[in-house]
Amino acid sequence: MTANSNPDWRDELPHLQLQAEQQVALAVDMAGLRQLEVDLLGAKGSVTTAVRGVGAVAGPDRKEYGQLAGKLKTAVEQAVAERRGQLERAEVQAELADATFDETLPADAVLATQPGPPRTGHVHPLSQVQGEVEAVFTSMGFHVLDYPEVESEFNNFEALNIPSWHPAREMQDTFWLDDGHLLRTHTSSGQVRAMHQFQAPFRAVFPGKVFRYEATDASHEHTFHQLEGLLIDRHVSVGHLLDSMRTLLSAIFGREVTVRLRPGYFPFVEPGFELDVQCQLCGATGCAACKHSGWLELLPCGLVHPQVLRAGGLDPAEWQGWAFGLGLSRLVMMRFGVPDVRLVLGGDSRFLSQF
Ligand code: DAH
Repeated sequence: MTANSNPDWRDELPHLQLQAEQQVALAVDMAGLRQLEVDLLGAKGSVTTAVRGVGAVAGPDRKEYGQLAGKLKTAVEQAVAERRGQLERAEVQAELADATFDETLPADAVLATQPGPPRTGHVHPLSQVQGEVEAVFTSMGFHVLDYPEVESEFNNFEALNIPSWHPAREMQDTFWLDDGHLLRTHTSSGQVRAMHQFQAPFRAVFPGKVFRYEATDASHEHTFHQLEGLLIDRHVSVGHLLDSMRTLLSAIFGREVTVRLRPGYFPFVEPGFELDVQCQLCGATGCAACKHSGWLELLPCGLVHPQVLRAGGLDPAEWQGWAFGLGLSRLVMMRFGVPDVRLVLGGDSRFLSQF
């Protein structure tokens, strides 16, 4: 349309405006709206052309034409902006209504900084194994107890039949605190605590961190985990102990494992045993973790010494018990094929991210 060739611009301009507003209102998506915007308001668009037509209008009509054309342009621009807003809101609504859309996912910007799929947290291998072992025991009626890492000399040594002059103290080099307390060297420190806490008969396990002041290597760490088991009842025998230990080990490993029983000396049990498990890392051919013996010491155990029962307030004539100290860190190593105990608590995310 040009103003010269069509003297009816007083009708044409409002008509063009109406038509454009209708088209814009009917745009069904963003792409359609964008195309319409070009057709109407682009450099060669119909509205732009109409506005430019003012140059051809002569004399007194020019001002009126200019006003109508200006109104046309503003109205079409407003219509486009309004429709754009409506379409944008509709797009967001459609995305939210999509059941597969998770608005709690990290923003694209965060994901873009990480190569590969987003990283998620997971349970530490030690906690995995501890949870499994606890489940085995709770299913057999054991309490799961949590006792302090800072202990008295009495609970860690004296009550367990290890007086200060006893050479067994040197087997467990100790971190002493200035006030005479110590970091427990074994979870056995919970034994007399449990005897005082519960009325016999009872059965309990107490997992936790233990500490030894010693040089570290592939099979020694200054901080590691044990799980102590204690059963107090009448008529407890070595047969009962060994059968319980076998049941326990096959539940933990989910299959029969080859074990070896040796006499073992611990002042707080009589008799005492060392229960070794065939090294699952090297298939018993010998590796650094089993010191090339093919066997891993996993489960020292025995019948609770009468002196310990007395320290726990129990009469050995009436009550007996068995106890064991499971090496949880060792179990983790065997389960997951970890060749060096120092990796278990080392906190290296390259190691931990494998589990
Ligand atoms: N407390 C001992 C240690 O850490 C292990 C142990 C041996 C625990 C025999 C027991 C047991 O309960 O009966 O070396």
